[in-house]
Amino acid sequence: MFVKIGILLLLPFVYMFFQDETLLKSIERGQKVYEQACIKCHKQNGEGVAKFFPPLANSDYLRDQRVQSIRAVKFGQRGKITVNGITYNSQMLPPGLKDEEVTDVMNYILHSWGNKTEKPVTLEEVQSVNRIDVGN
Ligand code: HEC
Repeated sequence: MFVKIGILLLLPFVYMFFQDETLLKSIERGQKVYEQACIKCHKQNGEGVAKFFPPLANSDYLRDQRVQSIRAVKFGQRGKITVNGITYNSQMLPPGLKDEEVTDVMNYILHSWGNKTEKPVTLEEVQSVNRIDVGN
């Protein structure tokens, strides 16, 4: 009896576990991409380097400008941007990643250092972001 109830109580967690698996795998791969392609500027804890490299941890830009953030990671970013009230007018060269790697590293940075998102980044979403989108 108690064992049966126990199993029933566990079921939703098992279900959630499998649903989250895809995302967890993506985050795991994304961490490796981050360590290879981003960490030297944005640093171990996403804190960046004051006035030179903007933070990713608690970045209002990353949180609010999803499409531009994906575009930056896909194509690079130059010119004026403001992150947490500080203006940068610098350049990030195109990291040269495959769309799959952009997806994974986005999922990693959106789920690290206190960052959160309701919506995991998908490959389709990354593929749909192009260089010259305007208005978002
Ligand atoms: C050589 C240093 C360098 C590397 C490597 C680098 N970035 Fe950046 N990143 C920058 C700079 C500088 C900016 C701001 C550019 C500007 O002033 O327009 C930036 C901006 C950003 C932004 C938007 C602003 C913010 O802080 O939210 C995101 C997101 C981002 N980078 C993510 C990444 C990711 C992910 C990687 C690895 C795939 C990466 N960067 C690799 C230097 C770098």
